[in-house]
Amino acid sequence: MNQLIFENPEALALAAVQSFRELALEAIEARGRFNVALAGGSTPKIIYEKLATLALPWENIHLFWGDERLVPHTDSKSNYRMVQEAMLEKISIPPENIHAVQMRLEPEMTNYLPQKGDHKGLPYKNPLAIGDKPLPFTDNLIEKILGAYAAELEKIQFDLVHLGLGTDGHTASIFPASNLETEQPVQITFPTAGLEPQVQRISLSLAKINAARVKQFFVTGKSKQAILQKISSGEDYPAARVENAMWWLG
Ligand code: 6PG
Repeated sequence: MNQLIFENPEALALAAVQSFRELALEAIEARGRFNVALAGGSTPKIIYEKLATLALPWENIHLFWGDERLVPHTDSKSNYRMVQEAMLEKISIPPENIHAVQMRLEPEMTNYLPQKGDHKGLPYKNPLAIGDKPLPFTDNLIEKILGAYAAELEKIQFDLVHLGLGTDGHTASIFPASNLETEQPVQITFPTAGLEPQVQRISLSLAKINAARVKQFFVTGKSKQAILQKISSGEDYPAARVENAMWWLG
């Protein structure tokens, strides 16, 4: 496991920002654009806040999301919203360079209750409500969201993928009970019971992540020590299946 150890999250974030800048300039020089998949959760937020202070060639930088919660972008659980508040609102980047997962809420909405076997038959409550109104993600809508994002991803290879690590060994939104073998670029998954937020996800697949040029994990906090130990001693988890990754630990 290739590791970079930092004093604290702040030092890690400063180094991650420099790495982002170097990789972006390299990719733009070589191929005219930089394709990056951003991570969700709380760890990367400090990195995106710092990225917003750099003068980068945003016109050649294309932002994607490594995973997203199936909620509207206005929802506090949205990874898009986290990046929007940390960075997008502070930089001038062409809107067409922001490849967010499109959450087109169809007019004809009914409650989506996973059918048995949908996702290895995980016992799964209907997605969380907004207020008292159940989130109405129909099968039809989910297929549309998945298809639209997959179509965007088919065409590109990521120069960089940012990844977090969950205490259950998940990364992006690929959980131990998810399909770890799919060749599809994206998949719909359900979080491990007890992992917040308990809401459906769309995630890059391990295949798409492993096809990237550079993969960087950002892991901070004592809560991740146990799972890190298990992964570095060779135990099998989704995060452990990311090949040739650099683990940034702070
Ligand atoms: C998500 C993330 C997820 C996250 C890890 C770590 O949507 O939740 O993509 O994979 O990176 O769960 O989350 P923290 O950084 O909040 O610990």
